[in-house]
Amino acid sequence: MTPLEKARGLLAGAERVAVLTGAGISAESGIPTFRGPGGLWRNFRPEELATPEAFAKDPQLVWEWYMWRRGLIAEAQPNPGHRALVGLERRTLVFTLITQNVDGLHDRAGSKNIRKIHGDIWLSRCTRCAYQRVDKSTAVDGIPQCPECRAVLRPGVVWFGEQLPRLVWDDAERAVHDSQVLIVAGTSAQVYPAAGLISQARVPVIEINIDDTPFTSSVAVALRGLSGELLPKLLF
Ligand code: OAD
Repeated sequence: MTPLEKARGLLAGAERVAVLTGAGISAESGIPTFRGPGGLWRNFRPEELATPEAFAKDPQLVWEWYMWRRGLIAEAQPNPGHRALVGLERRTLVFTLITQNVDGLHDRAGSKNIRKIHGDIWLSRCTRCAYQRVDKSTAVDGIPQCPECRAVLRPGVVWFGEQLPRLVWDDAERAVHDSQVLIVAGTSAQVYPAAGLISQARVPVIEINIDDTPFTSSVAVALRGLSGELLPKLLF
């Protein structure tokens, strides 16, 4: 049996499926990943751009970086990997798509039950009150201000050193616990707590990645290749 056949067998008849995705699933849409060749963290220092301290020190610089990323994302289109997961959701009784991606490409592809554990780059939220809004701007025009309390607005993403959104994270953990199969696609599985979802899984894990990850040796099936090619093959 090939790894692909084994993975198809694991999914056949599974009524409760959880999926964890990372930047690799959007790579074929032209959005840079974080680690690996061409990754954002090869050219930028996370502590200067993606921490609360960096934002406190230079909010303009941080906003400019997120606006640049919004611009890249706005030009990108969902790829066959995103679309295959829409098909899987339609045929699965209980389906949860947990994503570390903030790009919104799963939504644009048509996925419905999404848990964005690292937030959403298209949200701007207040650093003081509960205000947040969808914000499609891709250029900085001064630091945006909260219309409710006048504090500074920040990108609606999770930064290093911050807690993940509690309810979203609880849902993600529950989905993994309740699933019969977990698919992990396009993540280096190095960032916690997200990667902890993989070690928590008590069910077979299907990993899809162009490279090895720290979990490759312990998963039920590791499929090597592009998620935009493997996910459609796995599911149809
Ligand atoms: P990484 O950049 O760490 O990892 C991307 C993974 O995708 C790597 O394992 C690649 O081998 C794999 N990959 C690349 N292209 C692929 C393709 N076409 N098909 C399949 N696999 C491919 O991205 P994440 O794991 O998502 O956090 O990173 C996790 C978190 O670190 C991000 O959410 C972000 C970052 O700092 C925050 O912003 C909080």
